[in-house]
Amino acid sequence: MSRLPKAELHLHLEGTLEPEMIFRFAERNSIRLPYVDVDELAARYRFDSLQSFLDLYYANMATLLTGEDFAEMTEAYLARAAVAGVRHAEVFLDPQAHTARGIPLDAVLEGVTSALGTAEQRHGISTGLIVAILRDQSAESAMTTLDAVLSSDVEVLGIGLDSAEVGHPPSKFVEVFAKARANGLRAVAHAGEEGPPSYIWEALDLLQVERIDHGVRCLEDDALVHRLAAEQIPLTVCPLSNVRLQVVPDLGRHPLPEMLDRNLLVTVNSDDPAYFGGYVDDNYAALSLPPETLRQLAANSIRASFLDNTRKSDLL
Ligand code: HPA
Ligand code: ZN
Repeated sequence: MSRLPKAELHLHLEGTLEPEMIFRFAERNSIRLPYVDVDELAARYRFDSLQSFLDLYYANMATLLTGEDFAEMTEAYLARAAVAGVRHAEVFLDPQAHTARGIPLDAVLEGVTSALGTAEQRHGISTGLIVAILRDQSAESAMTTLDAVLSSDVEVLGIGLDSAEVGHPPSKFVEVFAKARANGLRAVAHAGEEGPPSYIWEALDLLQVERIDHGVRCLEDDALVHRLAAEQIPLTVCPLSNVRLQVVPDLGRHPLPEMLDRNLLVTVNSDDPAYFGGYVDDNYAALSLPPETLRQLAANSIRASFLDNTRKSDLL
């Protein structure tokens, strides 16, 4: 499956920060880590919920200080993605997690986009950057972040919505998403990972998103499944993430096959590969599906991307 040309549509760049990188960046940035070595850190990668993961995910970001750190992290992801057969990547970045620590937005954006900008030539991967809003922060903070991103020189593909889901419905960010869309950004949102199906309805109706990230809980609502299938709204599913965060009990009971049976436009993605035990090829492999289904999933990922139709046809 690593030879199947595919798009990765649900990948948090900060979730590619591998333990070795955390120690390397901590050393060069003179940051003291609360772990003695990589093994002690890796032993903490046991999660019982989204929040338990997010606590470690945000803590480890303290090691990312300079544009060079962001560039190196992004380049390491792209090199690994190429091995997985990724030909196009639309990647998330959480600017608020860095500006809140005093890192200038420009350093973050320039670091990331310097690596994304050479991905085509170095790795044969076209790329797009999706700025994700932290839904557990205020709508004002989201709007400030959007405004700063829009006034930067950097080319941004879209806006997303991530972080702690329950208690932070999409309705909180109606104005932010309206402004982002009015400024030409494509809109996506995490919904129905831990949150209820009503959050998926809200993301579609209030934020007018074009894709749902995760969305596995849609199966609890027949009317919603019918709508997602009828409109062929892509769902960017992350099997290893779902198991590691105990959204589903084990891979054998992952709902992806049922989602395909119900004619949903499902794609396979890695979410936070440094934390969840594998990159996108590992996620395809973990599903133990027949080759024709894996081919369909790879084709779905190209179809569900924001590429133009010419490039889609080249990749299909
Ligand atoms: N869900 C919500 N927020 C996130 C995730 C996720 O899977 N990964 C990184 N931020
Ligand atoms: Zn995610």
